[in-house]
Amino acid sequence: MAHYTLGIETSCDETSVALLRDGREILANIIYSQAHLHDKYGGVVPEVASRNHIRKLPFVVQDALERAKLNFRQISLVGATYGPGLVGPLLVGLSYAKAIAYALEKPFVGVNHLEGHIFAHYLENFDASPPFVALLVSGGHTLLVDVRAYGDYRVLGETRDDAAGEAFDKVGKLLGLGYPAGAALDRLARQGNPKAIALPRPMLDSDSLEFSFAGLKTAIVYYLRDHSDADRADIAASFQEAVVDVLTEKTLQAARQLQTEKLVVVGGVAANSRLRERLLACRDYKVFFPKMELCTDNAAMIAACAHFRNTALGQNNPLELAPEPSLRL
Ligand code: KG4
Ligand code: ZN
Repeated sequence: MAHYTLGIETSCDETSVALLRDGREILANIIYSQAHLHDKYGGVVPEVASRNHIRKLPFVVQDALERAKLNFRQISLVGATYGPGLVGPLLVGLSYAKAIAYALEKPFVGVNHLEGHIFAHYLENFDASPPFVALLVSGGHTLLVDVRAYGDYRVLGETRDDAAGEAFDKVGKLLGLGYPAGAALDRLARQGNPKAIALPRPMLDSDSLEFSFAGLKTAIVYYLRDHSDADRADIAASFQEAVVDVLTEKTLQAARQLQTEKLVVVGGVAANSRLRERLLACRDYKVFFPKMELCTDNAAMIAACAHFRNTALGQNNPLELAPEPSLRL
C-alpha cells in the first residue's frame, strides 16, 4: 500500500504544504508566499507572519489534499519544521501538524529546516547519494557541510555574520529592489558589469571554510554614499560577482580537503543564476542544484526529510516537541 507523507513548513514567511507518495514522489507542493505583506517593512515582521500562517494554513492544507487527490484519512505520516526560524511562525505549523497526527493517530516527525534543504537534493537527484559536500545558502544560513550519509552531517564552516541571502537582501534594499531582493538583484546584475566596482572577497585568502558577508554590504553603503549617480546594475553585478567568487572558491576548497568530487548546492541562493553558471562550469566536479522551486523554502523537502527519518531511522517524535528557533544542523 502506498505511504503518504504530509509536510508543513512555516519557519519564516512561506506557508507551505506538501504531500509525497512513498517519500519521493511529489503529489503536491503548495507554497503561499507572504512576501507582499512584509515588503513595505523591508523584512519579515514576525507577528504579521504568525497571524497569516494561522489564517492561511488550513486552506493550504486543503488545497494540497485536493491537488494530490487524497483525503486526511490516507495520510500515513506527518512532518513539520520545528527549527530554526521565527518562534511564532514555527509554533503555528508545528501545532497544526501535531494536531493532525494526533487526530489521525499517525506518527509525527519534527524536521530541522537546514536538513530539510539538503533533502531538496534527495528529491531531485536521488541517485547522487552521499557522501558529498553541500553548500547550504539561504536567507538565514550559509554553511558548508560534509554529508557522510543522510542524517550524518559535519559542519565544515559557517558565516561569522550575515548569511549570503541576507547580504543579497540588504544590498537589494539599498538599491531599492524591495524584499526579498535576491531574485531581483540577480536579474538586475545581468545588465551590469561585474568588474565595474572593485570589492573585497572576504575570507578568500584564509584556509578556513568560514564566510563573512557583512563587510561587503558596508562597502556598498560607502560606495553609494560617494557615488550617488552610480549605475545600479553595475553595483548589483559587482556585488553578486564578489559573493559568487567566495561561495565558489570555498566550496571547491572544501571538496579538495575532503577529496570528494560530488558537490550539492541547496537553499534560496542556490537559485542564483551566476552561482549556478560558475559552479556548473567546474568540469572536475559533479555539481548538483535542485530545480528552482525546491531551492527556496518549500514543504516537499520537509516531507521528504520526515519520511526518511521515520522509515530509515525509526524517528517518531512525541507531541511535546517544541519549536527551537536556534536549532543547528
Ligand atoms: O531558503 P530560503 O527560501 O529561506 C531561508 O531559509 O532563508 O532563502 C531565501 C533567500 C532570500 O535571502 C532571497 O533573497 C534569496 O534566498 N534568493 C536569492 C535568489 N533567489 C532567492 N539570492 C540570490 N539570487 C537569487 N536568484
Ligand atoms: Zn530555508
